[in-house]
Amino acid sequence: MKKFAVFASGNGSNFEAIAKRMREEKWDAELSLLVTDKPQAKAVERAEALHIPSFAFEPSSFENKAAFERAVIEQLRLHGAELIVLAGYMRLIGDTLLEAYGGRIINIHPSLLPAFPGIDAVGQAYRAGVKVAGITVHYVDEGMDTGPIIAQKAFEIQENDTLENIEHTIHELEHKWYPSVVKQLLGLNNRGEKA
Ligand code: GAR
Repeated sequence: MKKFAVFASGNGSNFEAIAKRMREEKWDAELSLLVTDKPQAKAVERAEALHIPSFAFEPSSFENKAAFERAVIEQLRLHGAELIVLAGYMRLIGDTLLEAYGGRIINIHPSLLPAFPGIDAVGQAYRAGVKVAGITVHYVDEGMDTGPIIAQKAFEIQENDTLENIEHTIHELEHKWYPSVVKQLLGLNNRGEKA
């Protein structure tokens, strides 16, 4: 059974959506660890409620990025993680993690990349007056929201849409599609079995 980890820095709604789908559909896989760089994150509470182990670290208590990434890798190995799923992890992945897990780290971003990378992507798109918005799942490299695109979902923005309801639609799309992409990358078929 393939094991994977989710990294989150905040709310963790995507983390929870993936965990729930995995359980509802009885995937032949296990979300074995939540990793967070924010010990107070809501994602940690969600992990506790879901009985999923979490590793929360304080980046400032390590000498540098390489040192905390080494600690993260130790935890990933302890929990057998073969795939890393970033879900609102607001930190660039460094060389140490890329060397250990290169090609096996994916991210979700709330825009149609390469448009609007970085923070507040939905706000950036809204202020730019885009008529089509969406989400992107991509492999992670050393850049900010760069790396080969795996999947995108788009929707049209209506005349009277507010930033809030666009954000709502984005989250709905993320919760629906990110679990499906993760499932596919774990090599599982529609029934959640090894393909
Ligand atoms: C999601 O909308 C995700 O796309 C975004 O953070 C949010 C996390 O929400 N990620 C990025 O902006 C990455 N650059 P969540 O904590 O409720 O899952």
